[in-house]
Amino acid sequence: VKVAVLISGTGTNLAALIAYAREPASCVQIALVISNKSGDVEELRNAARAGIPTRVIDHKLYGSRSEFDHTIDRVLEEFSVELICLAGFMRILSSAFIRKWYGKILNICPSLLPSVKGGNAHKQVLQAGVKVTGCTVHFILEEANTGAIILQEPVSVNTDDTEETLLERVKEAECRAFPIALQLVASGVVRLGADGKTCWKQGT
Ligand code: GRF
Repeated sequence: VKVAVLISGTGTNLAALIAYAREPASCVQIALVISNKSGDVEELRNAARAGIPTRVIDHKLYGSRSEFDHTIDRVLEEFSVELICLAGFMRILSSAFIRKWYGKILNICPSLLPSVKGGNAHKQVLQAGVKVTGCTVHFILEEANTGAIILQEPVSVNTDDTEETLLERVKEAECRAFPIALQLVASGVVRLGADGKTCWKQGT
C-alpha cells in the first residue's frame, strides 16, 4: 500500500514510519514525503537518502488554502498514493481535500483525544494535573482535531514532569503507535465507515 507522509516539523514520526515500512511484515511502502517547510530540511534529506521521493510544497507560495491543497492532491495522484499520514503536519486541510480522501488520512495527536485537544496539549495536561496522557492516531474528519480513533497509547504523568519531558515520552509512544495504526489500516483490519466511525473487521 502506497503511503505519503506529510510533515512540517522535526520528522521523528516520519523516521519511525520509514523504519517500520522496511520490516518484512509491513504491507506499507512510503512512496512520498511532502513538507510544507522550505529551506534546509534535514528530514527530507534523510528520506531522500532512504530512496524516498520528497517534495517541498510551501504554503506561503499559494494564494489560498484550496490552491495549496490542490497542489498536494496533484502530487499524491502523481505518485499513486493510497494512504496519507499526517506526521506533525501543521496545516489544516480544506474540507474538499478531506472529503476526497475520506478514510485515507491518518493523523497523530500528542494527547488522549477527546479529553485534551489543541496545540498546547502537554501544557494543558500539566495545568489540569491529570495523571495519564498519551497519544492518539485517528482518521481525519472535517473538523480539526476530532476524528475517528484508531489507536491510543497511554503515558503516565510524573510529578516532576515538565512540558519537555512529557513531550519526549509522548513522542516515544507516538513512534510506536503510528506505525501500528498505519498497518491496521493498510491491511484492512480497520477502516473509516460512512458514519464517521471506525469499523473493525469481524474477529479482530
Ligand atoms: C508530534 O508530537 C505530533 O503529535 C504533533 O507534532 C509532532 C511532530 O513531531 N502533531 P515530529 O515531526 O514527528 O518530530
